[in-house]
Amino acid sequence: MKTLVTCALPYANGPIHLGHMVEHIQTDIFVRYLRSKGDQVVFLCADDTHGTAIEISAQKQGVTPEQFIEGVSVDHQAVFRDFQVSFDHYSSTNSEENRQYAELIYGRAKDAGFIGTKDIEQAFDETANRFLADRFIKGECPNCGARDQYGDACEKCNATYGPKELKNPYSVLSGKTPVWKGSRHLFFQLPKHEAFLKAQLAKPEFMHPGLAAQLQQFFEKGLADWDISRDGPYFGFAIPGETNKFFYVWLDAPIGYISTAEQWAKKTGLAKSALDFWAKDADSKIVHVIGKDIVYFHCLFWPAVLEVAQLKVPDHVHIHGHLTVNGEKMSKSRGTFINARPYLDVLDPNYLRFYYASLLGSGPEDLDFSLTEFRQRVNAELVNNLGNLANRTLSLLAKGSGLAAPNEAIGGQLVRDALAKVKDIGEAFERFDHRAAIKAILEIGYSANQFLAKAEPWKTMKTDPEGARSVLSEAAEVVYLLTALLDPVVPQLAEKLAAQLNRPRLTFQQLATAQYPLLDRTAPIGEPAPIINRIEEAVVATLIVAPKEAVVEVPAAAPAKPPAPPAPEIEFGDFVKVALIAGKVLAAEKVAKADKLLKLSVDLGEGAPRTIVSGIAEAYAPEQVVGKNVVVVANLKPRPLKGIESRGMILTAGSGGKDLVLLDAGDVAPGTPVK
Ligand code: MSP
Ligand code: ZN
Repeated sequence: MKTLVTCALPYANGPIHLGHMVEHIQTDIFVRYLRSKGDQVVFLCADDTHGTAIEISAQKQGVTPEQFIEGVSVDHQAVFRDFQVSFDHYSSTNSEENRQYAELIYGRAKDAGFIGTKDIEQAFDETANRFLADRFIKGECPNCGARDQYGDACEKCNATYGPKELKNPYSVLSGKTPVWKGSRHLFFQLPKHEAFLKAQLAKPEFMHPGLAAQLQQFFEKGLADWDISRDGPYFGFAIPGETNKFFYVWLDAPIGYISTAEQWAKKTGLAKSALDFWAKDADSKIVHVIGKDIVYFHCLFWPAVLEVAQLKVPDHVHIHGHLTVNGEKMSKSRGTFINARPYLDVLDPNYLRFYYASLLGSGPEDLDFSLTEFRQRVNAELVNNLGNLANRTLSLLAKGSGLAAPNEAIGGQLVRDALAKVKDIGEAFERFDHRAAIKAILEIGYSANQFLAKAEPWKTMKTDPEGARSVLSEAAEVVYLLTALLDPVVPQLAEKLAAQLNRPRLTFQQLATAQYPLLDRTAPIGEPAPIINRIEEAVVATLIVAPKEAVVEVPAAAPAKPPAPPAPEIEFGDFVKVALIAGKVLAAEKVAKADKLLKLSVDLGEGAPRTIVSGIAEAYAPEQVVGKNVVVVANLKPRPLKGIESRGMILTAGSGGKDLVLLDAGDVAPGTPVK
């Protein structure tokens, strides 16, 4: 039997952050454990690419949605690779396979009579010529009057409401007042599946019983029909038989689990099709791993959709909690929204893998990335306890003549005690209780360190070299054991240990029947070296960079900062034609009838200041920019903007609109060249 394991499909509208990594790391640990124990596992994921937010992000960048999601996919996959997340295949929901399965599943639901229609009224932006989802309308909160609140909830007073209740509503896309327009939508009739869903949730192996109990509230309120259509323009799959209607992103997103399996089957030839897993009677086990925010979609809609489509319902949905940073929700303005790539730029991925593993239990509790605890835990447990055990043992052994013959009287107890824990460690990994597994591994490390501390081979080496060699060889048994135990959590480090021992890694499968002694003492060992260094406090501190300016929070559902599209290469000679000069902003004012523009007076060390018109007004108020040192393209031909002659251009970073920061020229005099 094959096990199919998936992570939730990350949205393609932003980069992977440390919150996502909670999911991907814990799932990778689970998968690597299953592989080590000899199970056949297929580990899949994909980008979730459809919806309005992605389309708008692409538009802002001046690229097609397809180009946009392609760039994001490259970045996402590179991050997962660098964190050693061992997917067997990574796809996209914008694939032909996904379209086919979406159509198949929809068709079956329709044929079975579970698709209804209803006329609904929705806000419509006549300038952008599209219907507006709740997150694309803003206005004054009907409860507290706070301005610029979204169409579904107020961030000031937490009231929830419908978009029609907002006072003075405006479209986020055009700034214009939306009109209300009717449209016929397609609905998946969820209430018809109440009995099936209740029975599904009652299965103890399906999901966390506490969370299943929480879902009861939806039955009490009464399940509602689920709107699965959106009007065009919409980046997604057109609904067969309809005009200008598209599947709602949450319909085709989980179908991505199936289409990704289909692509994997084609790519590897290891299955005939996705139906090897997903057919109703398939000999497979399907495990989804998701965060607690998307339980509703995975434990109510998805099983009902699969049931209607006569496909297999997942065997288990593992639900994890959310990451906080230094005890609080990740926040862009506090600088605690840490993306995965900047982490990788300064820190070893093994630290995070180990740290998350040491915190994660089976339940949906939140976990905290505390900078202090992260450093202390990794340094004390991974580097000092396990790393030093290995390094002390192997570097002292390297001074002698290889391993000594097994000496049961010296090492038998130590190794047998360690082996006795292996079963529990494996079972802990299998139920996602990585914390319990790490605790037991650390106990093994601790015992071996005690064993060394008592025997002091570094002292006895001179007086009793053979005795010291025996002690070290017994400790090396434990190091060898770690090549299996650490493999799910920090595979690179397990591999380093194996290389230093000059043996392949042990597997949990081998350990199931292994006995003392584990090591063939006659074969030579390799070169010792520290497997990992301590984390420096100064480096960890760089992870949190609170922006100097008051940055506007970008809500999760709104378009996030997209990666830059690839630009064609230029000659160095082309680059040096651009005169970049540091300048100081002396004065700033708004430009009439231009929401985006500020008129700046900038000192470039030329005597008289220059007038520069800059599109930063959504990100900065005039008083915020006065006194700033900025970088100016000084030799741009003067050009008129809203009737003002702009002489030069100020450099910014960001995708535009509110998402912009001025590049800081640093503490230099106006006129200083920037190179
Ligand atoms: N695209 C949907 C999932 C579709 S699955 C068919 C989505 N994407 S997401 O990018 O917002 O989130 C992907 C996964 O990351 C989800 O399981 C979500 O719970 C998880 N996390 C996002 N932020 C997180 C934290 N701060 N902490 C832990 N997990 C988090 O939802
Ligand atoms: Zn309010």
